[in-house]
Amino acid sequence: MHTRSRSDTLVQLRAIVAGAPIPALTPLRYAETHAVWEAASDQRGRLRDWLVAELPPLVAHVRDRPVAVLGVGVGDGSVDGPLAAALAAGGRRVDYAGVEPHPPSAGAVAARLAGLGLPGLTITVQVTDFASDAGTGPVDLVHFVHSLYYVGDVGAALDRALDRLGPGGVLVALTAPLEPLCVLTDAVAPHEGHRQWFAEDVRAELPGRGLTVREAVIDGRLDLGAVRTDPAGTGEQLLDFLVQGRTGALPAAARALLLAHLRDIALPGPGWVVPHPLHVAVVTR
Ligand SMILES: C[S@@+](CC[C@H](N)C(=O)[O-])C[C@H]1O[C@@H](n2cnc3c(N)ncnc32)[C@H](O)[C@@H]1O
Repeated sequence: MHTRSRSDTLVQLRAIVAGAPIPALTPLRYAETHAVWEAASDQRGRLRDWLVAELPPLVAHVRDRPVAVLGVGVGDGSVDGPLAAALAAGGRRVDYAGVEPHPPSAGAVAARLAGLGLPGLTITVQVTDFASDAGTGPVDLVHFVHSLYYVGDVGAALDRALDRLGPGGVLVALTAPLEPLCVLTDAVAPHEGHRQWFAEDVRAELPGRGLTVREAVIDGRLDLGAVRTDPAGTGEQLLDFLVQGRTGALPAAARALLLAHLRDIALPGPGWVVPHPLHVAVVTR
C-alpha cells in the first residue's frame, strides 16, 4: 500500500491550489473566523498570561510620566485589554495607542479599553495599516501580536517600529512559526501582494540591526474537532481562518489533502487536537 508522506501531501496541495486559488477572506469573515479560531485554542489564554506577566516589568523604568505603548494590529483588543489593565495597575498612567485597519475591530478595541474604566489610561486607536501610518513620538513598548503576517515588508515594519522606540524601549513580536499547522496556511492562503510572513521571516530580519533579542515559544493546542462534528459551521470557520481564504471553494482533492495533513499532525488521543505554538521575540537596541 502506498503511504503518502507529509511533504508529498503539501506538494500536491500546493499544485492544486496554484491552479485554482481560493478567494481571500473579507475583513468581516476574517474577524468572525479569527474569534472562532481563538476560542478553539488554549494559546490565547497562554499568550495573554505571558503578556500580562512579562511586559509590565520591561517598562518598570518609566517613572514620573505615562508609559507609552503602541500595539500594531490590535484587532478587537482581546489581548490589549488585559495588557493595558496590567500596565495601568496601581494607578500607573498609560498612553495606549493602537493601529488597526479594520474599522469595526478598531471600534471594538477602543470600546474595550475605555470599558476598563481606568482613569490613568488614555487610548488612541488609528484606523489604518502600519505601513500607511506608524504614528509619531517615542514609545516605551511596541507590540505586534499575530499581526506581522500581513505587513508588506517585515524588515521595513520592524524598522518603523524600532524608530518609534524611546530610550530603554522594547519591541515584542508574537508570530506563528511555519510548522506544522501553518505550513497549510503557507500552502493554501491567497497571496495578497506577498505571501504571509511567519516567525522564521521575522527572525531572519533581526540580525544586523544592532539589536538584543530574547526568544521564547508559547505552547498551545488547537482543537479542530468541529471540522468533523460541524463541518458546515464552526468547522468551516476554523479551516477558513487556517488558510485565510474560503475553503468552500477548494477542489475536493485539495480539501482531502488538507484534512489528511491535519489528521497526520493531530496529537494522539481523542478529538482532533493539533500543536499550536507561538514564537516570541523580545527586542531591545
Ligand atoms: C490575527 S489578528 C490579531 C489581532 C490581535 N492582535 C489579537 O491577537 O487578538 C491580526 C490583526 O492585524 C490587522 N492587520 C492586518 N494588516 C495589518 C497592517 N498592515 N498593519 C496593522 N494591522 C494589520 C488585522 O486587521 C487584524 O486585526
